[in-house]
Amino acid sequence: MVADVQSILIDRAEIALRVHDLGRELARDLQEELQREGDPDGAGKVVFVPILTGALVFTADLIRELSMKLSLRVVAVSSYPGASMESKGAKLAGELPRDLAGKHVVIVDDILDSGQTLGLIDELVRTQKPASVRICVLLKKPPEVRKRDVSAQYVGFDIPNEFVVGYGLDYDGFYRNLPYVGVLKKEAIGR
Ligand code: IMP
Ligand code: MG
Repeated sequence: MVADVQSILIDRAEIALRVHDLGRELARDLQEELQREGDPDGAGKVVFVPILTGALVFTADLIRELSMKLSLRVVAVSSYPGASMESKGAKLAGELPRDLAGKHVVIVDDILDSGQTLGLIDELVRTQKPASVRICVLLKKPPEVRKRDVSAQYVGFDIPNEFVVGYGLDYDGFYRNLPYVGVLKKEAIGR
């Protein structure tokens, strides 16, 4: 499998450092928010919403950087069916969590690409009138690739418009377990 990788874009140590910092930023901002409401313990008001399956690895590391009381509500979206490197538009697969009213929601995804996935989830989450909504992504492709106007307040790394795998990101369902973010060899694509 590692033989399929042409180059490493972001290595394991860089990811760990950045995720640590993102976690601290989020913790600080959420704590401030709760303090403003006069409820520093939050009484379970912080909800992380990871978008399956790509956000799995990132979210697992990210939430362990926060020591506050929080809960997880996963949401599933399909946009790259099969061996595809191009988004086919986002579709909700399954249900959206229903109990987000009044909560501080952090939507987490692996990557902001065309923006269709995060745009959809952001829109659906907001219909429930949460107290606040934040978007956190590990990777962000350049604004030129956006088909929908979405901004993420928390971004791990800005990357060029290249198809990447690893640390949760897949090609045809594989490579999610690579501990780094890398680019595949041409021979590994379409096999
Ligand atoms: P968007 O809806 O186009 O923004 O795409 C978001 C989803 O597409 C992400 O959650 C990823 O699952 C997938 N995706 C986008 N770019 C890449 C990539 O470079 N490698 C692997 N998956 C990607
Ligand atoms: Mg995905």
